[in-house]
Amino acid sequence: MKEIGGYFELELRKGEEYHKDAISLNTGRNALEVILRSRKYSKVFIPFYTCDVILEPFSKLGVNYEFYFIDEDFEPVFDYKKIKDDEGFLYINYFGIKDSFVFEIAKVCRNLIIDNSQAFFSEPISNIPTFYSCRKFFGVPDGAYLYLDGVANINFPIDHSEARFSHLLKRIEYDAEIGFDDFKTNDHGLMQKPIMQMSKLTKALLCNIDYEFVKKKRIENFLVLHEPLHQYNELKISLDEKSVPMVYPFRTVNLALRTKLTEHKIYIATYWPNIFNWSNENMLEYSLAKQIMPLPIDQRYDGNMLLKIIKLLR
Ligand SMILES: Cc1ncc(COP(=O)(O)O)c(C=O)c1O
Repeated sequence: MKEIGGYFELELRKGEEYHKDAISLNTGRNALEVILRSRKYSKVFIPFYTCDVILEPFSKLGVNYEFYFIDEDFEPVFDYKKIKDDEGFLYINYFGIKDSFVFEIAKVCRNLIIDNSQAFFSEPISNIPTFYSCRKFFGVPDGAYLYLDGVANINFPIDHSEARFSHLLKRIEYDAEIGFDDFKTNDHGLMQKPIMQMSKLTKALLCNIDYEFVKKKRIENFLVLHEPLHQYNELKISLDEKSVPMVYPFRTVNLALRTKLTEHKIYIATYWPNIFNWSNENMLEYSLAKQIMPLPIDQRYDGNMLLKIIKLLR
């Protein structure tokens, strides 16, 4: 029987999810696990330039993987003809700015899997397994979406995420520094979690988001940074017409800039720290991890905030 009355729940706008036709799960890596379970590939080619959590479903299921390398445009240096019938090929839509390439690779690469963890707003291409991870784009602790033909009515239990909210709450109550340890703990808590459906709480928060506003803001902010910074950016990037980026990837050999930003309380991630353990200084992937500063362009910021970043980097 439905409960009526009594005390209030957290009050949120009852909008719609952005990926309402997708399967909603607890994490991106688990969405990949569902793909691997369903496609039963004997081996999957995966990019060396990746986050190590991608390996979790492979070790869990005992599926083989082989690394491939990318070029300076984040495109595979790979002969797609070498992929066999029972092998898959995973490509990451890096920083959410590789939509045109995703479209191209989909024409020539068999058994493709698209990791849109960095490209929440990119549309899936029909028949190509595609997954998304929500917390890279929004203030939610977990959540993922999966498009996978032939898989319906999944009966996984529903996850609960109320215990993973402390960093999100502390960032509002206090500041980023005070919540940082909680962020690491809660992030760590997603490791080795079984495949579950997205929690009701994460889903409710995702229904609260004004997606059109977020899209517009991210594109606007990317361009605000790109205009003055592209001449200093060692990456030759542009924004596809329909792309909504995760960050503005600024590559520079001036590594002191990272420290300078931190000193001004501008925090930027490293994509990905595991690369330093896997590679050596002569490898492109090592340089990308070291030199790319993923500058924030998300919906929290506007032109004035970004001016501060521009002034520091110029
Ligand atoms: C490129 C990429 N793919 C997949 C994932 C996994 O997503 P999730 O943390 O939701 O499992 C991550 C990071 O966590 C990532 O950076």
